Amino acid sequence: MMNQYKIAVVGGDGTGPEVIKEGVKCLESISKKHNFSLTLDYFDFGGERYLKTGQVLSDEEVAALKTYDAIYLGAIGHTDVPAGILEKGILLKLRFDLDQYINYRPVKLYENVYTPIKNKDHNDIDYVVIRENVGGLYTGIGGFSMKGTENEVATQSMLYTRHQVERTLRFAFETAMKRKRKKVTLCGKTNVLTYVFNLWERAFHEIAKEYPEVETDYVHVDACCIYMIESPERFDVIVTTNMFGDIITDLAAVTQGGMGVAAGGNINPEGVSMFEPIGGTAPNFTGLNQINPMAAIGAAHLMLDHLGESAAAAELERAKKAVILKMKSMAANQMGFGTDDIGDMVAQELS
Ligand code: IPM
Ligand code: MN
Repeated sequence: MMNQYKIAVVGGDGTGPEVIKEGVKCLESISKKHNFSLTLDYFDFGGERYLKTGQVLSDEEVAALKTYDAIYLGAIGHTDVPAGILEKGILLKLRFDLDQYINYRPVKLYENVYTPIKNKDHNDIDYVVIRENVGGLYTGIGGFSMKGTENEVATQSMLYTRHQVERTLRFAFETAMKRKRKKVTLCGKTNVLTYVFNLWERAFHEIAKEYPEVETDYVHVDACCIYMIESPERFDVIVTTNMFGDIITDLAAVTQGGMGVAAGGNINPEGVSMFEPIGGTAPNFTGLNQINPMAAIGAAHLMLDHLGESAAAAELERAKKAVILKMKSMAANQMGFGTDDIGDMVAQELS
């Protein structure tokens, strides 16, 4: 019987819907070739809907999303909405309520893609960051006292449970087992954050014993930033906390050609996962057919791989690479092609 997948598509705001449209083009083309079927249902969460209706994302909508095999997300964010409302109300709510506890971000420099790092090429940059995705500073525990006075106090706690740490580390080791190098680097700050990272470090060494084939390494987060630029070939799998992961994956994205190519998955290995280009809404490019859809196409092959269609995923990645070879740049409006041309070319490459 033909495999069937139900996908919830959330184009979102800004250039989100444009890049998702190209990703969908590629998904449809590859599904025909690999003989599986996709049912796509579109949802209109985002800044535009919030401005019209005041709605962010309801519990009923989250419940509806739980019936899907995966979520394919464009971008959420709106210049007319104050910071935090859409991020917390939609993106983080989805990550939390669906317990997408892993943020999976491949950092791969493809051939013909510009990197600002001198003397490094596609042989040197090929690793993945496993970012814990629901805990730490993002837990949202904290508050104000004496707000607005000169004695004002604010706290925001970096909270981790042993369970959260263990499941993230285990995912990192499992990821390493599927890769050639089989190396996991813990990125932390054991010299200052001596409670939280002591927990991470102890759990890291204990779990490492279950994976004798995997080489282990530790770097402080600040040094990690240096190595990501000076010697990225040192890395295979980096595992880290939510906040550090947020920061280092933006740096990593720049080394792989920028937001036009970087994609990620918000993964719940036992539940519903969500795949997205990580570039945001790019309001200056909205509606101009100038934005690079490669990151959204990357999110599409990550999603296929997650669904178990690994041959289709690999083929879509190959087609993506072939088209990247023909592009002038990964930057918006400098690609040498329009957004829709890129989607057509990848789909063409597949057929
Ligand atoms: C990301 C984004 C989000 C985060 C924002 C938009 C809430 O920066 O996915 O990295 O901080 O996780
Ligand atoms: Mn981020």
